[in-house]
Amino acid sequence: MANSMGCLVLLCLVSPLLFANAVRSHPWGGLFPQFYDHSCPKAKEIVQSIVAQAVAKETRMAASLVRLHFHDCFVKGCDASVLLDNSSSIVSEKGSNPNRNSLRGFEVVDQIKAALEAACPGTVSCADILAIAARDSTVLVGGPYWDVPLGRRDSLGASIQGSNNDIPAPNNTLPTIITKFKLQGLNVVDVVALSGGHTIGMSRCTSFRQRLYNQTGNGMADSTLDVSYAAQLRQGCPRSGGDNNLFPLDFVTPAKFDNFYYKNILAGKGLLSSDEVLLTKSAETAALVKAYAADVNLFFQHFAQSMVNMGNISPLTGSQGEIRKNCRRLNNDH
Ligand code: HEM
Ligand SMILES: *[C@@H]1O[C@H](CO)[C@@H](O)[C@H](O)[C@H]1NC(C)=O
Ligand SMILES: *[C@@H]1O[C@H](CO)[C@@H](O)[C@H](O)[C@H]1NC(C)=O
Ligand SMILES: *[C@@H]1O[C@H](CO)[C@@H](O)[C@H](O)[C@H]1NC(C)=O
Repeated sequence: MANSMGCLVLLCLVSPLLFANAVRSHPWGGLFPQFYDHSCPKAKEIVQSIVAQAVAKETRMAASLVRLHFHDCFVKGCDASVLLDNSSSIVSEKGSNPNRNSLRGFEVVDQIKAALEAACPGTVSCADILAIAARDSTVLVGGPYWDVPLGRRDSLGASIQGSNNDIPAPNNTLPTIITKFKLQGLNVVDVVALSGGHTIGMSRCTSFRQRLYNQTGNGMADSTLDVSYAAQLRQGCPRSGGDNNLFPLDFVTPAKFDNFYYKNILAGKGLLSSDEVLLTKSAETAALVKAYAADVNLFFQHFAQSMVNMGNISPLTGSQGEIRKNCRRLNNDH
């Protein structure tokens, strides 16, 4: 009906046929920041206020929510697959190597979803919640703002294999990391700028122990790691045990979104191998590390653009997927 020639202008604008054209011509793959302006005008402020409460309670939550969006987008696209719990039909991505005993923020997402369902039932996707929460988290700890393209829908499945294989590991080589980003349609600038997410948050000992004791299998520490920083890290990250001991990814300003992550790398004090290799294994990435260390505004600009790029990875739109009522399960799963 809405597609008939005589339809009202407004109905025409939202008709599926014309919307499909907009999808094809839109630079953001069909997503746009105003997606909920009519269907749930308070959506963005609801997300922001709950993220703000959670970050006020625990600053690290900002980091955890940024990472949650990353681990969602790299597995089957930004479709909230990462949020699904185990069930008869789902093997949860929460059990994957990168996520197990590590990924956090699920309770905050539950709280946001409950508030959104109360305000506008069945309208705002869990995938969009993750994208908005990542932006709000970044801003709350001092990072850049960007308009978040919206309109993602939620997956009908999860992929633990994708989670194990497609998310880079901290001991991956730089070429492997770049390849894993390229598989998502992201480039080298995205690799270096998005790695700057490690300006906030924590890592477990188990994620960088190899560097401290036996980086290449010859029983030696990683030679690109500052010697005194390595000695300090060994205090809390022994050869065996202490796997879950926590260390700031940016030891200078762990709770502030700034460019100390890059300055640390220049000093040989990047925490993860995947951080330090950005300086030591390629001239192209090293130039970006130096540029971001020297110019926080350039870093902020590139980070914001790269977060939009990452947020656009293979979204479900239109009639694909569903809008979950509970981010942890499919609407038809019990
Ligand atoms: C380039 C490849 C990347 C690798 C190898 C990597 C690896 C890791 C590892 C190993 C941790 C610590 C996990 C733990 O020990 O529990 C971590 C934490 C984190 N990562 Fe990444 N990461 C990468 C890219 C990214 C990207 C693209 C973002 C977001 C833009 C990001 C944001 C974060 C944040 C914020 C944390 C701290 C989370 C928290 O404190 O809860 N990382 N990452
Ligand atoms: C999900 O179930 C599998 C076994 O089917 C188990 O190995 C895994 O740890 C569970 N994941 C979570 C997050 O509980
Ligand atoms: C990387 O770390 C994993 C998990 O600790 C380990 O199994 C693997 O051997 C390491 N890879 C390299 C190349 O060191
Ligand atoms: C270092 O790793 C190699 C290969 O992974 C292993 O054969 C060797 O025993 C390790 N050395 C030490 C000192 O742990």
